[in-house]
Amino acid sequence: MPDTRGDVPLQLRLALLPDGLDQPPAGKPGPDAVLQRCAVGVRIEGRRHPGNQPRVRAAVQAAGIPGVRAEAAVPARGVLRGGGVLLLLRPLLRLPPAGHRPARGGAGLRTPAVRPDPPETGRGRVVVGFRDVGLPQAVRNGLRADDPEALPRRGGAPELSGRTSRPRPKSREHVPVLLEEVREALALRRGDIVADVTLGLAGHAVPLLKAVGKRGRLVGLDLDPENLTQAQLELAATGLRFDLQHANFAGLPRALATLGIDGVDALVADLGVSSTQIDQAARGFSYLRPARLDMRMDPTRGRTAGALLDEITEANLATALRELGDEPDAAAIARIIAMARLSRPVDTTSRLVSLVCQAKGIPVPSRGWGRLHPAALTFQAVRMLVNREMENLAALLAFLPSCLRPGGRVAVISFHSGEDRLVKTSFKEGRSQGLYSKIAEDPVLPGDAEQEANPRSWSARMRWAVRSGVR
Ligand SMILES: C[S@@+](CC[C@H](N)C(=O)[O-])C[C@H]1O[C@@H](n2cnc3c(N)ncnc32)[C@H](O)[C@@H]1O
Repeated sequence: MPDTRGDVPLQLRLALLPDGLDQPPAGKPGPDAVLQRCAVGVRIEGRRHPGNQPRVRAAVQAAGIPGVRAEAAVPARGVLRGGGVLLLLRPLLRLPPAGHRPARGGAGLRTPAVRPDPPETGRGRVVVGFRDVGLPQAVRNGLRADDPEALPRRGGAPELSGRTSRPRPKSREHVPVLLEEVREALALRRGDIVADVTLGLAGHAVPLLKAVGKRGRLVGLDLDPENLTQAQLELAATGLRFDLQHANFAGLPRALATLGIDGVDALVADLGVSSTQIDQAARGFSYLRPARLDMRMDPTRGRTAGALLDEITEANLATALRELGDEPDAAAIARIIAMARLSRPVDTTSRLVSLVCQAKGIPVPSRGWGRLHPAALTFQAVRMLVNREMENLAALLAFLPSCLRPGGRVAVISFHSGEDRLVKTSFKEGRSQGLYSKIAEDPVLPGDAEQEANPRSWSARMRWAVRSGVR
């Protein structure tokens, strides 16, 4: 959709590069792509690139704007996907002179009045950098940007390039991701039993409960007792029937059995961490807030991140940082943590941040740092380890068919390429085994309006499946 929000359209070229190359080989510019400067990032629309190539890097070159050139290749891995990818790049851009029109008008965009950008950028150059957290995931494969501290606060002004005329929600009210798409995928009927196995603040659960009505029932699971309490208040206000359990969705069959339910008609899982968890400094999820390094979604049990970092082998830590965080300095960070814990535990967020920065040979960034926070990927990987997020998802997917009634439907929202791959593979295998009659061929992505209104949705992907049999 043409973007007329008042930023200068950039006609940029994106090329996919093998590791080690920073610029596309001469004469091989790679797939055409249009990068539009938008409220808080750069949106890349491009042609589908065949296959996933996780080790390719994306280089962006500005074109069509005299006096502006790309200063750096995007230091990230990525591929273009069908509908385009929102890279969440933050362009630190010295805009061209007022009144300038690009040689090629990007996707019919209107050239707006030009306003100066932050002073730290080089004159006459485009520097493509990252916003905090989450980006690399999106950059790599459309991985998640689910860390709310990395994203502009709902209702708050985007940090840098937030000139937009579109309304944003005024308060920090909770906005469930892909709600309409989930509703459509689940096709709920009055009287259905629906399970929300990642209840959070009941953002999905309340509308789903209303959809099943008086004769229906909602089962809600969450690891986090505080979220359950909050969700309970929201659900109680509907006056409809629901049952909540403080439980891991990896144990879904047992949770249903406890309630005397032999199967549900629909189930939703909205994976990952909730903003309430990030926002509470004491939970230790945030690299921006000094606290004990906890990171447990369920603070009543399990190993804290501090304890985990004390016990894990250096090799396993390096592997986790690489595989769950795609952290390029995984080995160096694992090394420095292994050395540092010999003298005292790595048990605070600030200490972990400082060690990551030490491993990278950079100072700890101050607030307002305009790029991906150096510790963001490490925090993500450690959080996923602490909460066994991949293992739990694998268990849920394995049990799912036995928990759905014939014709029952499931929708899973993920923000991480590894999780999305698990879901996709499981649904495909389920279909080939006759467990599912239909599955989403492609992930369902949020539309422009949702991405704009709710930055957390940017990297969300939803996949659905229908259990074989007739409801
Ligand atoms: C992204 S939030 C869900 C938000 C929710 N859909 C809403 O709109 O309010 C994810 C929630 O799932 C919970 N969670 C994560 N892993 C879980 C697991 N294995 N079992 C149960 N709950 C889990 C987290 O504690 C968090 O509250």
